[in-house]
Amino acid sequence: MTQSPGQGKALDNLLTESRTFPPSDEFAAQANAKPELYEEAKADREAFWAKQAERLHWDTKWDQVLDWSDAPFAKWFVGGKLNVAYNCVDRHVESGHGDQVAIHWEGEPGDSRAITYAELQREVSKAANALTSLGIGAEDRVAIYMPMVPEAIFAMLACARVGAMHSVVFGGFSAEALRTRIEDSSCRLVITTDGQYRRGNPAPLKPAVDEAVAGAPSVEKVIVVKRTDTEVAWTDKDVWWHELVDSQSDQHTPEAFDSEHPLFILYTSGTTGKPKGILHTSGGYLTQTSYTHHHVFDLKPDTDVYWCTADIGWVTGHSYIVYGPLSNRVTQVVYEGTPNTPHEGRHWEIIQKYGVSIYYTAPTLIRTFMKWGADIPAKYDLSSLRVLGSVGEPINPEAWIWYRENIGGGKAPIVDTWWQTETGAIMISPLPGVVATKPGSAQRPLPGIGAKVVNDEGVEVEHGGGGYLVLDEPWPSMLRGIWGDEERYKDTYWSRFADQGYYFAGDGAKYDSDGDLWLLGRVDDVMNVSGHRISTTEVESALVSHPTVAEAAVVGASDATTGQGIVAFVILRGGAGDDAGGAEAIKALRDHVAKEIGPIAKPRQIMVVPELPKTRSGKIMRRLLRDVAENRAVGDVTTLADSSVMDLISAGLQSGKSED
Ligand code: WTA
Repeated sequence: MTQSPGQGKALDNLLTESRTFPPSDEFAAQANAKPELYEEAKADREAFWAKQAERLHWDTKWDQVLDWSDAPFAKWFVGGKLNVAYNCVDRHVESGHGDQVAIHWEGEPGDSRAITYAELQREVSKAANALTSLGIGAEDRVAIYMPMVPEAIFAMLACARVGAMHSVVFGGFSAEALRTRIEDSSCRLVITTDGQYRRGNPAPLKPAVDEAVAGAPSVEKVIVVKRTDTEVAWTDKDVWWHELVDSQSDQHTPEAFDSEHPLFILYTSGTTGKPKGILHTSGGYLTQTSYTHHHVFDLKPDTDVYWCTADIGWVTGHSYIVYGPLSNRVTQVVYEGTPNTPHEGRHWEIIQKYGVSIYYTAPTLIRTFMKWGADIPAKYDLSSLRVLGSVGEPINPEAWIWYRENIGGGKAPIVDTWWQTETGAIMISPLPGVVATKPGSAQRPLPGIGAKVVNDEGVEVEHGGGGYLVLDEPWPSMLRGIWGDEERYKDTYWSRFADQGYYFAGDGAKYDSDGDLWLLGRVDDVMNVSGHRISTTEVESALVSHPTVAEAAVVGASDATTGQGIVAFVILRGGAGDDAGGAEAIKALRDHVAKEIGPIAKPRQIMVVPELPKTRSGKIMRRLLRDVAENRAVGDVTTLADSSVMDLISAGLQSGKSED
């Protein structure tokens, strides 16, 4: 053993990565973000945020930037009034951009639709009138359970326009998941489709709504968009979108709502127990999504074509497809389907077709592209891309480099953006054109944001040290609570470092020797090997840095001698060769980790698997892998994207043991 773990030390810092990529002079010269932004925010944080809020149209200006007297319940831009939908749609038409395409919508079967801001205004107005005709107004809750069709975005904006709160439930969730979410916030209306295209085939969606609504008495009406034209059962609560909405006037005068007027609830599953309804409000949320989208993605509304690949069922779809981008007058691609339908080059084909210049996706997808092989993107013209983004998980340095080289042409800056459903908008990210990027690091809190890494006692760790990531200043787009449960809000986020008043995000992180931040995964996943607190992220990144490995997940399994032993599950890259899963190759992988990180992090066991268990938003479910590693019956798999994955993994394990 090389060192004994220090007192109060939350996490060891093991992996080092020293590559950096400074911005080119050309990029820096044209960048929206300038180095002074950091200074400006530091000099006067509230004045800085007030200036960012000026990006929006306010019907009534606020008289106080922040009221934190009732912490942890914040109020931002107190006394201000605005309409969120007006800010995302109408004002762009009024400023003469009605003919600009807002959304290039690409359906999975290959159908497409270009929607201008003028058309968006008409569609959202009609939908708003339809909501009013059903008696839906301020603070009513509306559940939206839809695939990635334009009407999903119209519906969200229509809710915002009339002051109703939307609760978008991902279209891949079950009837039961939908029912509990509808029930928790007593939704009066559900908006859905007859079906959805998934992997080339229409799949029914409405039956799940029927089942959910049968057990959710708060629902009075269900609006159904015809997407797949599949036959659906009909109840007296149901009404077709094309009958109700299309007959409405396309004129609608938006009303200004208070800055703290609730905008939406989005459920996020906790590690245990029932999902939490994360509550977001209007003025602060729109200010920060707009500010971050402008600076982090360097958006130029007249020339860029932006594409965020998230689903509107996740917060990334809310903040970086709908609110941030549209408030900035984006032209964006919205794609309905999966990345390998009808072929594994679909994303690159879409980028080539629309000349996409900014592309924002998740590490899980980047690693999948790595597995499919670099020859696929190589067949397309991706030269329009100038900024790449990543969100959702730590991005392994090797995946980052692969992304830069094979997608970004070796030059597009990559912004690794750390944030959460709870934070509402990006909190930590390099600013392109200002910060020299480092593969695998989210680097710095954005100007105006306070974040640091602390130890068990809440004391900031030194450069080179690891610990807990906390947010030490309130921020405009912060959650305002958990729907219907104030205590749970305080307990979940504000109790761990109550003395210091810090928000604890649940993530581990470290500083490198420059003071840049590296995210190390959820602290619940941290492994303890012979008293060393080792992050899953670092060991996974070491594995992915081997040329044969596309994706890896590691867990700590109980071990008689070391407390926990590291067990790794790996997916091989396309073209890794037939021997890559053999005993020799596995030994080489274990040695590789020992070399990259140190003998302490050498996996006890490595298993080659065809897939990893992931949530529907692409995060690896290590809890289930821990069950496998400890030979237990696999636990609750209801949030798993594909429940057959665990069978595949277990079957593979029986056929070949890789322990040496
Ligand atoms: C993780 C997604 C490392 C993290 C916007 C966080 C990340 C959780 C990153 C929130 C990143 C997100 N680097 N980890 N760039 N981005 N995460 O609520 O663990 O779906 O707490 O929000 O994802 O996930 P959520």
